[in-house]
Amino acid sequence: MAEAAIPSAEDLAAAGLRLELDTAGAVATITLARPRRRNAMTGRTWTTLAHVGHSLPSSVRIVVITGEGPSFSAGIDLAMFGPEGVSGETSLFRQAGTRPRDRAALDEGIAEYQAGYLWLRRPDIVSVAAVRGHAVGAGFQLALACDLRVLADDAKLCMKEPALGLVPDLTGTKPLVELVGVNRAIELCLTARTVSAEEARELRLAELVVPGSDLDDAVADLVAALLAAPAEAAAATKALLLQAQGNTLEEQARAERAAQVERLIALSAQG
Ligand code: CAA
Repeated sequence: MAEAAIPSAEDLAAAGLRLELDTAGAVATITLARPRRRNAMTGRTWTTLAHVGHSLPSSVRIVVITGEGPSFSAGIDLAMFGPEGVSGETSLFRQAGTRPRDRAALDEGIAEYQAGYLWLRRPDIVSVAAVRGHAVGAGFQLALACDLRVLADDAKLCMKEPALGLVPDLTGTKPLVELVGVNRAIELCLTARTVSAEEARELRLAELVVPGSDLDDAVADLVAALLAAPAEAAAATKALLLQAQGNTLEEQARAERAAQVERLIALSAQG
């Protein structure tokens, strides 16, 4: 269901993004497109990502996030930490300095940024990060926000925030812990060390690692395979899988029954 107009190409470009829909309207590809800054992202990138999430047509079933040039993303644009900030954008860092007691406003600002990441877990879409080169900080968290990660063999993942005196706050801590376990997550975050593609595969941070020249083809193959299941069954299955970790076995069994009853009724109505 489209709730808003898709951001214009100009608005996307101002946020360092491009958006393409395939001819069938089933696959949306979002490209981080500031290669000369290694696809560094600003607050506007994240609020525009949220806008994209709200406005994609309901035909979209797969969202691929990729980066132009040698890096997926160098994370937050470091200009956001500087006294000047980024032109035309509110700087949470300056705001924190000038109005340190205004915690609610800071919280709200971060929530708006997080909205750019959270929609990627919606049951009606499957999100795939196609990562080549560096995915640092907010870039690593963007890859973690996706359901699936396909890495080129030159991929380098790094959670840099604690080394900069901050915490990872763009929704990355939960998927990181779920994938690698709390002990390894502590080690990766506090040392801010770089994880190679090979180690990422061992740590379950990548579904697939391929030679860099094969990345686009590997993602296209995965997307085609994901589209094979009927849309409603895919969405219901993703919704079920997403609740599994938080449910007891009995709760999950009940959720399976409820979802299957809906599927059976829908299928029999189709004849
Ligand atoms: N912000 C702004 N500009 C950046 C940038 C960033 N995060 N990362 C790279 N650039 C710029 C560089 O300044 C350089 O610009 P010039 O050509 O004008 O000198 C250009 O992009 C190319 O960068 P490099 O020459 O460094 O490229 P590289 O391929 O050798 O290295 C890299 C790539 C390892 C990602 C390196 O650029 C790097 O370490 N960047 C900084 C990463 C970082 O600390 N990000 C912040 C993480 S924390 C976070 O995201 C979340 C948070 O804090 C809340």
